[in-house]
This record gives sequence, C-alpha cells and structure tokens, in this order.
Amino acid sequence: MSGFEINKIIASIILALIVIGIISYVGNFVVNVDYKENQETAYKIDIPESDTGTPTRLNEGTEIIEPISSLLINASFEKGEKIYKKCASCHNYQKNSSAKIGPNLWDLINRPKGTMEGFSYSKSLVEFGGKWTYEELANFLYKPKNYINGTKMNFAGLKNVNDRANLIFWLRQQSDNPVPLPE
Ligand code: HEC
Repeated sequence: MSGFEINKIIASIILALIVIGIISYVGNFVVNVDYKENQETAYKIDIPESDTGTPTRLNEGTEIIEPISSLLINASFEKGEKIYKKCASCHNYQKNSSAKIGPNLWDLINRPKGTMEGFSYSKSLVEFGGKWTYEELANFLYKPKNYINGTKMNFAGLKNVNDRANLIFWLRQQSDNPVPLPE
C-alpha cells in the first residue's frame, strides 16, 4: 500500500467521523426541540387544572372536556353575545338586575358558587362549593347536569369548545373589573 492510499483511508475515516458527529448533533437538536414542545403542551394543560381549585369531576372518567383557557385570548365577543341568547330566557347579566329562572350572571368569573342574594339555589350547587373559575364554568356549561349532579339548571349544554370560550369571554366583560385572562 502506498503512502498516498493510506492517506486516503485516513482521510475517509476522518470524514466519516465528522459526518457521524454532525448527524448526532443534528439528531440531538431535533430531539431537544420535540422535548421542549412536549413540555410546553403539558404545561398549558396544567394551568386550568391548577386554576380550578376543586378537581374537575368528569362523568365516570369517560369524557374529557377540552379546556378553554388557551382559546380565550382569541375569543370573539360578538359570537359570545349571540350564544348568550341561549341563556337569556333564564338569566339576566346586567349589574344589579334581578334573578329570572336562574340567578343574575353579572360579575360571574371567580364569583363563589351559589351566592346571588335572595336566589334559591339547589342544594347540589351550593354544596358543590368553590368559585366559577374560567375552567369550572366551561366544564359546567359543557353538560350542567353531569357536572353538578342535581342542579336545577335545565340546559343541555354547549358541546363546542369555541362556543364555550366565546360565551365565557363575553361573560367576563359583564363586570366592572374583568378577571385577567389566563396566561
Ligand atoms: C332553562 C333555564 C336556564 C337556562 C337556559 C340556563 N340556565 Fe343557568 N341556571 C338556571 C338555574 C335554575 C340555575 C340555578 C341552578 C341551581 O341552583 O342548581 C342556574 C345557574 C347557573 C349558574 C350558577 C350561578 C351561581 O350563582 O352560582 C351559572 C354560571 C349559569 N347558570 C350559567 C348559564 C349560562 C352561561 C347559560 C347559557 C349557556 C345558562 N346558564 C342557561 C337556569 C338556566
């Protein structure tokens, strides 16, 4: 073997090592990016859970109700106002307005449950406890009778997560001091 051939062999070994080095570097980089994205998703889902105060009660653990927190930032006030028509037969929403079939919904976000003065709530709702955080309200509105077994509110629910986000965004504005949107 001539010196020249040995040089070629050494050169190709070095080249191969460089290529392997680059591939593993790029590989690590790609894996790292994925890892961060997963972390972030997990974090976003965590916010509403830690926000709710009481654990989310799901129907026999079968239904997973999509959280609304991340949708609120882009929610539509106008669409929310339209959806409120479904509630308007039973609820007022202006400051100091009276109860109808259901309690007044003025300043609802983060209001303790079952606390409109003079309204006669079901025992189930009062005993459920906690306050109407964004996510608790969204879970309740998904299927009220499932969320609070025994509630007097005869409303089938809002299945669409965007409908719930838009409505809750609109309800949030019905306050002198709207609760900040979740981050
Ligand atoms: C058919 C009448 C009816 C409709 C329609 C209705 N509700 Fe209700 N709502 C009630 C009644 C009655 C209660 C009291 C429930 C109880 O005491 O268990 C109630 C209670 C509530 C509460 C609890 C308030 C508090 O002070 O703790 C919220 C929040 C609520 N409704 C929101 C809504 C929203 C939002 C809609 C529209 C998507 C809606 N409701 C549609 C009758 C209705």
